[in-house]
Amino acid sequence: MKVIGIVGSPRKNGNTNILVQQVLKGAEEAGAETRIFILNEMNYRGCQGCGYCKSHDKCKLEDDLTELFDELALADGVVFGSPIYFGQFTGQMRLFLDRCYSLINADFSSRLPAGKKAVIIGMQGAPDAAAFKGVYDEFGGQISNFMRMDVKDTIVGIGYNAPGEVKGDSELMERAKNAGLNLFK
Ligand SMILES: Cc1cc2nc3c(=O)[nH]c(=O)nc-3n(C[C@H](O)[C@H](O)[C@H](O)COP(=O)(O)O)c2cc1C
Repeated sequence: MKVIGIVGSPRKNGNTNILVQQVLKGAEEAGAETRIFILNEMNYRGCQGCGYCKSHDKCKLEDDLTELFDELALADGVVFGSPIYFGQFTGQMRLFLDRCYSLINADFSSRLPAGKKAVIIGMQGAPDAAAFKGVYDEFGGQISNFMRMDVKDTIVGIGYNAPGEVKGDSELMERAKNAGLNLFK
């Protein structure tokens, strides 16, 4: 089994990366091979809307997302993680998601085989658990509708700001690790 993590936070020592890594750690303990992609360290542009991917089976842009898409096609599980920036997932994650247009057909059906397992990690500074529920639900919906993935869990860190703060939340850390351990159960 192969599981990849895709991190939308620019902070490598941040809370999102920590929780994504916890899920990957659990998946590794369950025997999976893992790999992590930090979007902020990758060179890529947003979708150019050129339509090339509707007459070809790939994106016309060749950049650091090319390898990520290859890995995504091979992966059995994917962990998507992003903090909330101004009420949305980060620009890094949104640009990546736009480029996933190359993974769908003109009729919006998915080119990915159905049934890959997904975990969504969200992170927010606001203490109100309900504040961005719509963002997490919508992102999960897009992953399940357009990528035909089975979203097994959505784990959100609430009220965290300083990098690494989430490590003190042993319950959430355990939940993230268990999400990885149980990804294929
Ligand atoms: C530019 C920017 C915008 C932010 N906007 C929000 C926001 O709208 N709502 C919120 O709850 N937290 C917001 N935050 C706080 C982050 O979501 C929070 O610090 C989170 O823990 C960062 O995750 P990270 O440690 O993985 O980078 C913002 C932070 C930054 C830097």
